Amino acid sequence: MTTSSALSRRDVVLGAGVAAAAVAVAGCSTYGADPAAPADPTPGGAEPGAPAQALAKAADVPVGGGVIVGDTVVTQPTAGTYVGLSATCTHAGCKVTKVQDGGIDCVCHGSRFALDGAVLKGPASKPLAAKAVRVEGGSIVAG
Ligand code: FES
Repeated sequence: MTTSSALSRRDVVLGAGVAAAAVAVAGCSTYGADPAAPADPTPGGAEPGAPAQALAKAADVPVGGGVIVGDTVVTQPTAGTYVGLSATCTHAGCKVTKVQDGGIDCVCHGSRFALDGAVLKGPASKPLAAKAVRVEGGSIVAG
């Protein structure tokens, strides 16, 4: 099994979108598979020395869960595999608000997406748009 710190660029799932929202870090939320885990007071915040465009620390993206950072959802469906997705729901454009229980929820009308962005439950009929992310220096960065 690969740890996040040993990831190469090949291990990171690269989406097809342009990750222009890398600096839009306001409204960051963290949800994970382990509800007992302590909350990070600065979720998505860059550590000193972290890449300037860091979306989150790789260690803060739980396996089987994810974090929402601005307009980007970063998930880790399986250990060492990171997925970047648009946080904009494909149904009517609300921002998805929760990553929980292995899925991504939009509370506007109840759509639910898999950690890879696929639709699990409508009314959305299209997957969340992919956004390119990669691991750099222990952080998830756009691009
Ligand atoms: Fe997300 Fe309607 S906008 S379910």
